[in-house]
Amino acid sequence: MVDIVVLGATGYTGRLIARYLATHPQRSSFTFGLAARSQSALEGVFRGLNLSTDDVPAFTVDVTKPSDVSAVVQQARVVINTIGPYWRWGTSVVRACVHHGKHYVDLTGEPHWVKDIIFELDYAALKSGSIVVPCCGLDSVPSDVLAFIANKTLKSFGGPSATIDLSTSAWELGGASISGGTFSTILTALEDVPKQTMLASGRDFALSPVKGPRSPRPRMLYNLPYSDPPVYGAWYFMVLANRQVVQRSWGLFELACRANHHDVAAVAQSSYGPNFKYEEFVVQRSALYAVMYSTIFSAIAGLLVLFLPVRWFAQRIMPSPGEGPSEKQLQTGSLEITNITTSSPNSKGEKIVVRSIFRGRGDPGYLLSSIIISECALALALDGATLPQISKSGGVLTPMTAFGDILIERLRRSGRIDVESELLVGTEPRKTR
Ligand SMILES: NC(=O)c1ccc[n+]([C@@H]2O[C@H](COP(=O)([O-])OP(=O)(O)OC[C@H]3O[C@@H](n4cnc5c(N)ncnc54)[C@H](OP(=O)(O)O)[C@@H]3O)[C@@H](O)[C@H]2O)c1
Repeated sequence: MVDIVVLGATGYTGRLIARYLATHPQRSSFTFGLAARSQSALEGVFRGLNLSTDDVPAFTVDVTKPSDVSAVVQQARVVINTIGPYWRWGTSVVRACVHHGKHYVDLTGEPHWVKDIIFELDYAALKSGSIVVPCCGLDSVPSDVLAFIANKTLKSFGGPSATIDLSTSAWELGGASISGGTFSTILTALEDVPKQTMLASGRDFALSPVKGPRSPRPRMLYNLPYSDPPVYGAWYFMVLANRQVVQRSWGLFELACRANHHDVAAVAQSSYGPNFKYEEFVVQRSALYAVMYSTIFSAIAGLLVLFLPVRWFAQRIMPSPGEGPSEKQLQTGSLEITNITTSSPNSKGEKIVVRSIFRGRGDPGYLLSSIIISECALALALDGATLPQISKSGGVLTPMTAFGDILIERLRRSGRIDVESELLVGTEPRKTR
């Protein structure tokens, strides 16, 4: 039995996760194993990372065979699942984890699949004590962290009654790239997932146990409140998963508050409040660029959705499964997300404004995602006693409801990620960049 097993260790992101775990500063405090369907490919990973099976057990798993999945899941306390598209391959793994009471994290950015998992397995996970946390990569940890930490800063200034009105995240992606696995996941969403399912998972609070107020509508041009000089941006597809995860965190905190009404202090502390709205966009250098980006992005997305030959052509020019950014791209990429969160007005009509930043050094989608998901798994393996109360009951959770401050601290200690949050006092516009 190992603490953590990585499923899909021969894939592009699986290999990065294996490398991160193998050289982790806490390496002597945990054990991990690697699982893949091809033993010869797995041997290549062991050779590449200079690992020995005496130290890191190797497992064979084909996720189309339930007996394989059940056998490998029973060999670990925490499962990291990198085998996507999750709509196609993920459910058997979550089922096995829930059945055997194991903890689970993955890298999905597919809200249509997460909706199914919640429907089928949330209650069973609560019963078995299994902590299931989808979306533990770039989708959707940074967004979830920013709303969570902004709420804490807001309350540290305005007191427990301060609640969020609008939380806006502005993404700056330096040298972002795409892997073959991610592209195949996008194609699966376009070709295999019924349109009604996609539409249902795109509605506000589609993953939340409680419905809240509608978020601002998608548009061609965004701007970051309280920014001088102005920060403009365009619609970006990552918001589809990120908004759902942030809204599920909001809903799970609301539900916990309602169930916990005897503990008024705890209730007020975690609640984002009844008016909570969330939006995000990708930063562009001017308003004109933002509108142009939104237009071109929508046109490309439309062509991909509507025309098979366009998808065929895109497959030819995109990386194949197993491929991804080069080592140089991994090291030189960057991420900076600035979040501005505004409170609902207090009894005197005053608002509080908070600025929070999530900054990463390295390719956002892959290097940073491999660090983030590994730290989520390590939080489950090593920090169980100090995880938030919601987490201890199990269920299908979100990164912030499952890990809260424990994960933020782990990300900071990775040396690749900074998270900061401060007050922009009062309502006067302040410089944010
Ligand atoms: N949301 C985020 O921030 C984020 C970031 C990174 C990745 N991702 C997602 O993570 C997933 C993986 O991406 P990737 O680029 O690492 O993909 P990849 O390189 O294609 O790797 C996929 C892995 O799944 C394995 N696999 C496929 N079918 C299998 C089966 N039936 N049984 C067992 N193993 C099977 C492959 O094994 P073989 O080697 O034998 O083919 C490979 O190890 C994708 O869904 C991607 O979208 C998300």
